[in-house]
Amino acid sequence: MARNSNPRRLVTAALPYANGPIHIGHLVEYLQADFWVRWNKMNARDCVYICADDTHGTPIMVKARELGLTPEAWIAKSHAEHARDFADFGVNFDIYSSTNSRENRELSEHFYAALRDKGHLRTRTQEQLWCDHDRMFLPDRFVKGVCPKCGAVDQYGDSCDKCGSTYAASELKTPACAICGSKPALKPTSVISVKLSDFRDFLRDWVPAHSPAEAANKLSEWIKGELLDWDISRDAPYFGFEIPDHAGKFFYVWLTAPIGYVSATRQLCEQRGLNFEDYWSRGEDEIYHFIGKDIIKFHCLFWPAMLKTAGFKTPTQVFVHGMLTVNGEKMSKSKGTSITARTYLNHLDPQFLRYYYATKLTSGMSDLDLGLDDFVNRVNSELVGKITNLGSRGAQMLAKRLDGRMGRLDPDGRALLARAQARRGTIAAAYEARDFARAIQEIRDIADEANKYFDEKAPWNLIKTDAEATRAVLSTTLNVFRLLAIALKPVLPRYADQVARLLGEASYTWRDGEAVIEGGQVGEYEHLATRVDAEKVQAMVEASKPAGSTTQTPTTSPQAGHTAPSTASASTGATGVIDIDTFGKIDLRIAKIIAAEAVPEADKLIKLRVDLGPLGERQIFAGIKSAYDPAQLVGRLTVVVANLAPRKMKFGMSEGMVLAASDPNESGGAKPMFLLSPDSGAKPGDRVK
Ligand code: 2FM
Ligand code: ZN
Repeated sequence: MARNSNPRRLVTAALPYANGPIHIGHLVEYLQADFWVRWNKMNARDCVYICADDTHGTPIMVKARELGLTPEAWIAKSHAEHARDFADFGVNFDIYSSTNSRENRELSEHFYAALRDKGHLRTRTQEQLWCDHDRMFLPDRFVKGVCPKCGAVDQYGDSCDKCGSTYAASELKTPACAICGSKPALKPTSVISVKLSDFRDFLRDWVPAHSPAEAANKLSEWIKGELLDWDISRDAPYFGFEIPDHAGKFFYVWLTAPIGYVSATRQLCEQRGLNFEDYWSRGEDEIYHFIGKDIIKFHCLFWPAMLKTAGFKTPTQVFVHGMLTVNGEKMSKSKGTSITARTYLNHLDPQFLRYYYATKLTSGMSDLDLGLDDFVNRVNSELVGKITNLGSRGAQMLAKRLDGRMGRLDPDGRALLARAQARRGTIAAAYEARDFARAIQEIRDIADEANKYFDEKAPWNLIKTDAEATRAVLSTTLNVFRLLAIALKPVLPRYADQVARLLGEASYTWRDGEAVIEGGQVGEYEHLATRVDAEKVQAMVEASKPAGSTTQTPTTSPQAGHTAPSTASASTGATGVIDIDTFGKIDLRIAKIIAAEAVPEADKLIKLRVDLGPLGERQIFAGIKSAYDPAQLVGRLTVVVANLAPRKMKFGMSEGMVLAASDPNESGGAKPMFLLSPDSGAKPGDRVK
């Protein structure tokens, strides 16, 4: 059978976690892939764009619990929000599914059975950190403690933010459960893993042919190295699919996630009556994954090994992009540069970000910077000033002064248009190669030449003496503008459709750019793009800062310390009623006061050192100076909130809150206060509930 010269293309973007909102960092990838899919589609290529929410794992389970929702309800909410964000940014998926689907369960079981039956799995016993309070094994990101390498506090169980070193969660000094703050213990469990080293020969050949050359060194280092076993099981409680022959064990989220590409395709094929096997099992249809450089290992090692084992085709290419920085730095919540898709949409036109990202995106893996001033400048000077202006000046003058009727081009105009058309090949090649920055550069160059032509012909003067010559100039200008709109369509589809309407045409295909339109009536000019207002960008940044960081709202006086009565009514909900799960989040423990001293500079505070038994010692500032003599306190037992976020005070860190009773109607400096004490028999660290 002859090779199909125009095979179908299946394109995926990485499945976003259902646990949080889409932000402008994610959008780099969804937009990049969207540009490419739209390019394929307008170029008469059968192409589908597949995506889904990545819904499994501990964080989703914990977050749902925190919100008082079932995981299913929580992922349904995220799904609706994500789908709306994508639609509003013009990201045009053919299907936006979920990994928590029947199809994905069936396929996950199929992949697992294939790995098992072909002998690529092994089960071994591993010691993992277990939280007795939450009754679960803690994933690395749910353990916090002191970095074993540099001593930095408050580091996650996989790597240190300060020194960059990686380690096992069990190596952390003073580890604590990130949910409840208690100290986890090592406990053995059996873990199922894939023997990745079985695939060494396969990967050695597969990887260089299907992954980016820029990642080749890293990948070949991995392949030549240990190719450690990859753990694919997690113990209950876990939100996901239970492993059929292992009750109480679940497929790890990174197993069910990429299978989501396949199960979403299956759903799409069912919806549209398409042939699923051609996409994933046989035939020449091509598969392309767009991913960020942080998840190369999953897509270039684990995933092809899984696909091969389960009898599926492997991807034609994995396209890898770099990460987004904003103003040259990692996105930052406190600086307001961690901007969600929705916050952006509340302030700015999505077309601006599409255009800006296109000006920056190449096929390479380097990081991409969204400079906010640069964003304003480029959108205003290029998209509005150079490109849109051509259309608005041409169309408005033609409508006002020459009945909106296009005429024939003059010789200069014809030559100008021919030069522009000659560049379409370069633009097409750039799109095909995902070098969007190059495509936009060409588009800008054409616009520059057309603006020069327009200014030299000075139609605003010419109209005084020669209407038909003016019509020719405006018709030329509109022809070039039309060509630019067609060339921009993968990036700015709404814009291109508006231009088609203006010129009375159907939505453009790539080939429409070959035509010259002479004659015809120009419709009413709708605004295509207005300038970005820098103030709106600033407002978007302000809206992205954490609540309370823009206006200083002191919730407690600097001397209040960490004692319950001073904030007694501050955090009750609207009804004042909380459910048992909310109460369960407060970790109350018996503490023994082992040292106490008054803070001389503060009239209410006593500095306490307390012993929480297995949880260790803590320093707590308590606002009880008016009621207690420090010496009286040493040696007694009381109750503290052990999982309160540590608070930096003028006199040092306060790492908990001591509970004391007082009459809410009393006020003033010397109000009576009564520390709580347990009955005899309670010991430091005991839980109070
Ligand atoms: O890194 C992430 O955000 C993952 N949710 C990506 C999954 S991609 C694919 F494997 F599903
Ligand atoms: Zn815990």
